[in-house]
Parts: sequence; C-alpha cells; structure tokens
Amino acid sequence: IKNHLEIEDGQLTIGGIPAVEIVKQYGSPVYVSNESRIRDNFRRYKDAFPDADLYYAAKANSNLTLFKIMASEGAGADVFSDGELYLALMAGIPRDKILFNGNSKSDRELLMAVKTGVRVSLDSIDELRTLSRIAKKEKKIVDVSFRVNPDVSPQTHPKISTGLKASKFGIPHEEAVHAYKEALDLPGVNPIGIHCHIGSQILEISPFSEAMNKMMDLVEQISRLGVDVKFVDMGSGLGIPYEKGKAVPSPKDLADLILPIFKSRCRDEGISPKLILEPGRYIMGDSTLLLTTVNTMKEAAKKFVGVDAGFNLLIRPAMYDSYHLAVVANKADKKPEEIYSIVGPICESGDILAHDRELPRIEKGDIIAFFDAGAYGFSMSSQYNGRTRCAELLINDGMIDVIRKAESYDDLLANQLVPSRFL
Ligand code: LLP
Repeated sequence: IKNHLEIEDGQLTIGGIPAVEIVKQYGSPVYVSNESRIRDNFRRYKDAFPDADLYYAAKANSNLTLFKIMASEGAGADVFSDGELYLALMAGIPRDKILFNGNSKSDRELLMAVKTGVRVSLDSIDELRTLSRIAKKEKKIVDVSFRVNPDVSPQTHPKISTGLKASKFGIPHEEAVHAYKEALDLPGVNPIGIHCHIGSQILEISPFSEAMNKMMDLVEQISRLGVDVKFVDMGSGLGIPYEKGKAVPSPKDLADLILPIFKSRCRDEGISPKLILEPGRYIMGDSTLLLTTVNTMKEAAKKFVGVDAGFNLLIRPAMYDSYHLAVVANKADKKPEEIYSIVGPICESGDILAHDRELPRIEKGDIIAFFDAGAYGFSMSSQYNGRTRCAELLINDGMIDVIRKAESYDDLLANQLVPSRFL
C-alpha cells in the first residue's frame, strides 16, 4: 500500500504482522516501527552519499533502541540538547561523530560538551566566547564549527524553515569569516568545520545547491584565513511523501545535485573535507505507524470519528497542518464510502488528526493507522490533558519487542511533590 506496508486478507500489516493483532496484544494507541525499513532507509541514504558521514538527527525520534540501530549502521548524531547528547552516548554513538547543535545552549550544556569531548556547532560569537572560557578552564580543546545561516528559502512550512535571513538559527553568512577569525585567536576552541541547515520536509531541492555554493564560498575564505576545514555539514531537510503516490526527490537526487558542486569546489581549493549530512525524517518517518482505536462516532457539522490518540501523541497535523495518511487497518481493502474527520480526545478544537478523508464505513472499535509517524511523532508527544504516553514497539523478523512501555498514572505524578500542608 505504501513502501513496506502491505495489505493481506484485507488487513493492514507492518513487518508482516496485522495491525489489528498488534493492538490486540499490546493495546491502543501504540507506536510501531519496522526495523528493516529504518535500516533500508539509512542504507539508501548512505548509498547515495558513500563518502559522507551521516549524523542521525536525534530529534526525529530519540528512542534508545532506534538510536542503537543508527549506531549499528555507523551513524553519527546531531544532538540539540544535553538530553539528546546523553541519549547519543547511551546509544553508543562515537564521540567524534557527535555534533552538539543548538541556538541557545546553556553554560552547563557547553560544559557537558567539553567534558564528553564531542564537537560543538556554535550559533553565535557570544557562544564562541563562552565555550572558549569554559574549555580553557577545563584545560580542554574543543573542535568546533559555526552554524551559518546561508539565507536561502527552502519553500517549506514557515515553522520548519531555518535558513532564512530572519531565522533565529545560525550566524549571518556575512559575519562568518569574522567569527572564524576570532575562533582562531581564542584558546580552548579549534575551528575545524562549517555547518548549515536550511529547513525540513523540503520537496524542491534546488535551494540545497544554493546553500552548498554559499557554504563553499565560505570554506574558501576561511581556509585562506588558516582554518583547516575538516568537515562541511549541510544539515538535512529532505522531505518524504506523506501523500500516497506523491513523487519526491530521493537522496540520490540530492546527491546528484550537491556532490558535483562539493567535489569540484574542494578540488579547486585543494582541500578534502568530509561531507556530513544530518537526516532524521527520511530515516525514521515512514518506518512507523501510530495505531489508534475508534472510541466513538458522531454526525454533526461533519462525520467525526473519535480515536484514542490526539495531538498528545501526534502533534504534526495540529502544529503544521501536516497530512498523515489514515487507513482503517481492519478494512484496508474496502472501498471508500464516507467522508470523515478523525479527531483526538484532547480538549482543544485543533485536535484533528485528519480532515475530510474518504474512507470505508467506520464503526466503533475499528483500528485506524496513521502513516509516516516515525519522525517527530513520539518525540513531540506530551502528557497534555493528563494523557499517559503510549508504548513504542519494534518489529524485526516477525518478532515484536516493546522498546518503551506505556506510561502509567505514576508517570503523571513523577517528580511532583506535594507540600505537607496539603496532606
Ligand atoms: N539538523 C538540524 C540542525 C536540524 O535542525 C534538523 C531538524 C535536522 C538536522 C533534521 O532534519 P530532517 O532530516 O528531519 O528534515 N517537527 C518538525 C520538524 C522540525 C525539524 C527541526 N530540525 C516536523 O514535524 O515536521
């Protein structure tokens, strides 16, 4: 039906197991990922960029087991917080393949980077000075890059465009040379790379060549200053087809676009830095379903289907108007008959997972699968409305492992303290 997902005897299956069976055994709602799809996605990316290092973007999904799959594939990691750094280390990602990104790192986070010996991508000159001070005090030298804002428009959702001039991320590219000059002079920091990230869910890839050229302009300039450029990190952003049958550019297309620029400009300069890419969505996105159960039906202004997951578990539709394909898993071969809006149980009008979808006739108890939920699904979940987070499962070779237990009411109370006067 879509990629690795199939229909057998009218049932939607993932990794060969019917979604309905999964819900029967493990309850609903539940996230379920297919290990072989994750590995295939990674390898397809790696095949397109055989000489590059792929730093998995932890934010897409930082489940430890999924992170360990990345480590076993030889990935590095793009981490954006102390917690993601902690998880990357726990997953066994080599320290020299971890890049600590972030536009507002705390001094404590910078100290953690210094102590763990990972690379840091700096977001401002102010941060450069802070890191230099911290590293000097610790008598360490930290390998750094600057995240440069290349000022290109990636033509994606404004909330996930990051490389525009007005964006909060990175230093303006006109100031980059000056920043590297200062980095060369300061103790405790060793500038060895350059970094950018223009946005996410990008379907029109030409902005990547513009960004690549702008970055190589800078590489040229900072090399002349005396920076030994060991890596050029182009971030990530390759989109995936959330809609069935939609043609989107592949990693190979991206490689065909940017590798010739990268290679020829490196040759011209007589340098051989490593290319780094930081894919997240492409690796995890389509590997995972969010399985939900229909609690209730209602005919009002629209035909509403109430399921047991809302934006507490999948916030993308509410936050970015994102489309996730919804399939009635136990009626996967039935013809569409009605138009439904599928809504979650959260006390907010915006808690709509799918607007006006043509689907087979739905009844209470049906299982609705939301596709492509592996990136920015669980990782953006919350306990809003007192809703415990659901379990995460991993399928491999027809076997199911629970890779995160469903939360219990204890988790709602976790870390809360009640002063004795309330007892
Ligand atoms: N590197 C950096 C520095 C990033 O900021 C991001 C994503 C990535 C890599 C990974 O990009 P990807 O391969 O996944 O496109 N929550 C939003 C997406 C936010 C992306 C944030 N940065 C969504 O659900 O669409």
